This record gives sequence, structure tokens and C-alpha cells, in this order.
Amino acid sequence: MRQAGPNTVQIISDFDMTLTRFAFNGKRCPTCHNILDNSKLISEDCKVKLEHLLNTYYPIEIDSTRSVEDKTPYMVEWWTKAHELLVQQKINKDLLAVVVRESDAMLREDYQIFFDHLKERNIPLLIFSAGIGDVLEEVIRQAGVFYPNVKVFSNYMDFDETGTLRAFKGELIHTYNKREGALLNTGHFQELHDRHNVLLLGDSIGDLTMADGVQNIENILKIGYLNDKVEERMESYLKSYDVVLVKDETMEVPNGILQYITGSQ
Ligand code: TMP
Ligand code: MG
Repeated sequence: MRQAGPNTVQIISDFDMTLTRFAFNGKRCPTCHNILDNSKLISEDCKVKLEHLLNTYYPIEIDSTRSVEDKTPYMVEWWTKAHELLVQQKINKDLLAVVVRESDAMLREDYQIFFDHLKERNIPLLIFSAGIGDVLEEVIRQAGVFYPNVKVFSNYMDFDETGTLRAFKGELIHTYNKREGALLNTGHFQELHDRHNVLLLGDSIGDLTMADGVQNIENILKIGYLNDKVEERMESYLKSYDVVLVKDETMEVPNGILQYITGSQ
């Protein structure tokens, strides 16, 4: 990848718990969904229901003893129910920026170096997220790194003419259907047909298929953050990812690899 040069490289990354921190000072950091769930936009009654969904489905999401095929219907159920609840809350578009600012969302340490490095070398960064696109964009905009080389595939909100949330747009993206999402968006990948070297960043086994829409891949290096249930999931992560990072809330390793393959060190 280093020999081929920066013009042949693209980055495909997950967002929640990959570009954002998993925990800070011993406290869990929010996903895109959690930013809304914990905010003043959601009624107390609805918060209880969303938390119940999280407690029901998150253990299934990260269960390494179950197959992706087995987990998929549960993920569809989780996202569908959560989105229905969010729509019932009549969320106003203009308040998204406020709740993101008031949240505990945090990008991983040294994120600035990562985003700046990619921008300076015109390396495309595709963020492929099962979170909420509108919230995700606001997090990176407020962090000052939503640069033109960054493209986002995610679940986007659909607002009515008064700016009230009425639905979610397009095909649902959950943790384990990123392959289907990637194949639906091959138009984007064709634009990048010279970039056949991929650096993939993820924190879930579902993230491994994010590059399946890229044609003619020559090399792919997969870096995985193993955030939770480390011991029981280590074996499956080591089998699937090239690099597995544990207890690392920083971008130091991806940054070092990126600097090496783009010839900056
Ligand atoms: P991603 O990291 O693959 O983009 O997935 C988004 C994460 O969002 C996934 O790990 C589960 C989480 N999630 C919530 O925290 N709350 C929710 O209501 C839903 C549907 C997902
Ligand atoms: Mg994730």
C-alpha cells in the first residue's frame, strides 16, 4: 500500500465506538442513538422504553456465540422499534445541534490528526454507520472535521415542512447488513475505482463487510477496536481483523499506519 502511494488509498470506517470513544473516565460514551435517547427531546416514558430496548438487544448484538444470521432479525427489530419511538417524539431538526452540544459524545483522542491527515492528502474517508446520519454529521461538524473528503452512509431522518421528524429515509442500516448497504451504494465506490487499497476501521464483526462494494480491491487492512466483552470475543476478532486494539481510546495506531502507508514517515 505504501509503494502504491496515497492516491490509491481510501478509508472506510464505522462511526459509533470506532471513531467515537467507548468510555471516558470509566463512564460509557453515547452512540448517535444514545445522544438523542438521553436528551431533553425525549419524554421520560420514552426513555424507559428505549433503555429497555438497549438492555434487550445490545447483549444479542455483541454475543459472540450467535451467528450473524441468527442476530440479524433481532437487529431489525431493535432499529425498527427504536426509530418508531423516536418518530413519536416529534423531534425538531433545529434542536439536533443543541442536543449534540449538550451530550457526552467524544471522538477518539487524536481524531484531529486523523481527519486532518486525510484531508491534506485528499484521501477519501467513507463513514459507514448504522447510527443516525443527521446526528453523526453534527458531531463531526461541531468537532470541526466535517471536511469535503468525508462522505457518510447512514440512517438519515426525514423531516416534514415544519422541521418535525416524520420517518427515517431509505433502507435501514443496522449492525449486520452493512454488506447490503455497501452493494446498494456501489455508485460511490465506482467514483473511487483507482483507490484499490483500503484501510478499514470498525468495532463490530458486522463492520468487516463495509468494503464489500469496492471493486478490484488489491489490499485491505482491517483495524478493529474490541471495546466490550474483550476476553470472550478476542478469538473471533483476531480471526477477522488484522489488528485488534483493546483498551485504546485513541486513534494512535490508525494514525501511525496511515502515516506509514501514505509515506509521511
Ligand atoms: P455502528 O457502530 O455499526 O454504526 O452501529 C450503531 C450502534 O448503535 C450499534 O452498536 C448499536 C447502537 N444503537 C444504540 O445505541 N441505540 C439504538 O437505539 C440502536 C437502534 C442502536
Ligand atoms: Mg460501531
